[in-house]
Amino acid sequence: MRALKIAVVAGLLCTTFCALGWRTLNAAQTANAATAHAAPVTTDAPTFYRDVLPILEAHCQECHRAGGIAPMAFETYEQTRDFAAAIRIATANKTMPPWFAEPGVGKFSNDPSLSAGQIATLAAWASSQAPAGDSRDAPAPRVWADKWTIPEPDLVLKMPQPVRLPANGDIDYTYEIVPTHFTEGRWVQMAEVLPARRANVHHAVVYVRPPESQWLRHAPVGVPFTAESLTDPAERAAAMWTDSDILLVYAPGSSADMWPATMAKYIPAGSDLVFQMHYTANGTASEDETSVGLRFSKQPPPQRVLTLQLTNDHFVIPPGAPNYRVEARGTLPNEATLLSFFPHMHLRGKEFEYNLIHHASAGGAAGNGGEPPRIETLLRVHYHFHWQMSYRLATPMRLPAGTELQAVAWFDNSRDNPHNPDPEAAVRWGEQTYDEMMVGFFDVAVDARTDKQSFFVRH
Ligand code: HEC
Repeated sequence: MRALKIAVVAGLLCTTFCALGWRTLNAAQTANAATAHAAPVTTDAPTFYRDVLPILEAHCQECHRAGGIAPMAFETYEQTRDFAAAIRIATANKTMPPWFAEPGVGKFSNDPSLSAGQIATLAAWASSQAPAGDSRDAPAPRVWADKWTIPEPDLVLKMPQPVRLPANGDIDYTYEIVPTHFTEGRWVQMAEVLPARRANVHHAVVYVRPPESQWLRHAPVGVPFTAESLTDPAERAAAMWTDSDILLVYAPGSSADMWPATMAKYIPAGSDLVFQMHYTANGTASEDETSVGLRFSKQPPPQRVLTLQLTNDHFVIPPGAPNYRVEARGTLPNEATLLSFFPHMHLRGKEFEYNLIHHASAGGAAGNGGEPPRIETLLRVHYHFHWQMSYRLATPMRLPAGTELQAVAWFDNSRDNPHNPDPEAAVRWGEQTYDEMMVGFFDVAVDARTDKQSFFVRH
């Protein structure tokens, strides 16, 4: 079974707010119609075509399909039958479909969790020899655009030159600048990153570099490079630091970005996309050529999506600490509609929380001796390093200017953490997975005329 790897999302190391992408788990459709033809069953046992396939289409095939991230497809009866018992177990113990938000805290539109009734149906099907049933009962197959989860992209931008990956050792963050050649600004309603070598891609962040940005201006275009290879020392140091907006982030387990028709990400005319790739060696030398697929809005939307972040990069996790707390806070300079969250940590990540801080007194944030602030938890994630997921609010939240947001992370640097590469180490912020990160990405919708820089100007 292919193990998923941790993703490392770096890039914007702001101590308060910055930016990044938002993904959804909902998309999807598939090609292979069910083709089995067992005798119709007349008992009350659930059948594959009538009862099981609709659940698989809605909750599983996004990953369990040809070209999906799961090691096996559940598109046909033949593919699924032998996994009946495994499906019963994985759904009963809730390891599948993957979802890590604490139940009862917040409601998320991309929550793929099964209802108790659906879990019981899968269990009853597995216990009655997994009957096929009548293929005429099958739901319409979900249709997928090749390897894309989004519908057929309007435009695919691919790294012009492949990146050579060694068989072993740490690989420094690798950048490739891809010109869009857009002669006018484009609104992106859906975007998806498609690595050629999924097994090697820990994460990819695709930044939008507008023409006036000086970020990596002297770096080569259309060829892979690392910060180390840059000759200008100032530029080398600045590679990881940018205020450019992020188009989207890819990590194992994450999915495409799909916004409602009223909102989109914006790519100004003449922008380049900057791919920041964190690859990991997996024992075999190979090459990757990652693409990004874009679907443009039919008309300019009233709202623009910005990706911001709450980050703390100043922590030191003591050796052996089982539950080390790190927090970051920020105050929204302007009103915004909160859409989704994407927490990011590495191997020692344990829990991650997003909170609103309501100050009791009208005096606001100042600690003026009044009542303690009330904390409203919006999301609590029991973090699993194999999975980097976004959590999209079922009901977007209107946040007034001055709203205080808090992200809290807990790390397990003890021996009891089976993923811990070194419980003896004091752990700090860093690129590689044996270092740590604490980033609470979140997406907001703002007025379409607002960009990231103007959003941070307080009025
Ligand atoms: C977001 C992607 C995703 C979704 C959605 C998903 N799976 Fe999986 N599934 C995987 C991956 C990847 C694996 C491989 C094991 C791993 O890395 O955890 C897997 C493994 C499995 C396994 C093997 C046993 C195990 O627990 O590892 C079963 C059974 C399974 N999935 C069933 C399902 C069912 C049933 C659904 C829907 C109700 C589902 N999965 C939804 C990605 C997914």
